[in-house]
Amino acid sequence: MKNCRLSWSLVTVLAIVVAIFSYKFTVGNVAPSDDGRQAVLLSKDERNALLLEMRTWLQSSQGILAAASENNFDEVVRSATASGMGAEATTPGSLFRKLPVEMKALGFDTRRKFDDIAADAGKSKDKGRVVAKLSVAMNNCIACHAMYRFVETD
Ligand code: HEC
Repeated sequence: MKNCRLSWSLVTVLAIVVAIFSYKFTVGNVAPSDDGRQAVLLSKDERNALLLEMRTWLQSSQGILAAASENNFDEVVRSATASGMGAEATTPGSLFRKLPVEMKALGFDTRRKFDDIAADAGKSKDKGRVVAKLSVAMNNCIACHAMYRFVETD
């Protein structure tokens, strides 16, 4: 009987621990920011890695537009692929716990949209479609920047 009570207490404690971990994983390491956004609190290296990723996304976006304007679809594919899911491996693993779940979803969706631009441009060779798809992808840039900023904590 006593053992039974003990194991129920253990189950309860474990359930609480799991709940706390999943909550932290969902919410991420965030704090309110005085500009009305959420501050995502990161180490210097994590912040630098994400900002580098951002500059690559900006470079890809410009590269896609420049190449599409010259009907150079091989270059559209190359530029878009540089920001696709294949580049995710360079993201530090520690970020998975610190980024809020909606931010991760927007980030992955942006990478998938770059992959989709690459796949579509390779087949359709249609610059109107490339520009339209990039414009939709860039709504993700606007949405995420409106919600979050990166703040260095140590
Ligand atoms: C999932 C969220 C998210 C998405 C999607 C996103 N960004 Fe960002 N980006 C951020 C955050 C957060 C910052 C830091 C802003 C701050 O701290 O004020 C940032 C910063 C940047 C910077 C500044 C880099 C630096 O070195 O300071 C650039 C450039 C940038 N983003 C470009 C883009 C472009 C282009 C896209 C879309 C193709 C994009 N971002 C999509 C979250 C995002």
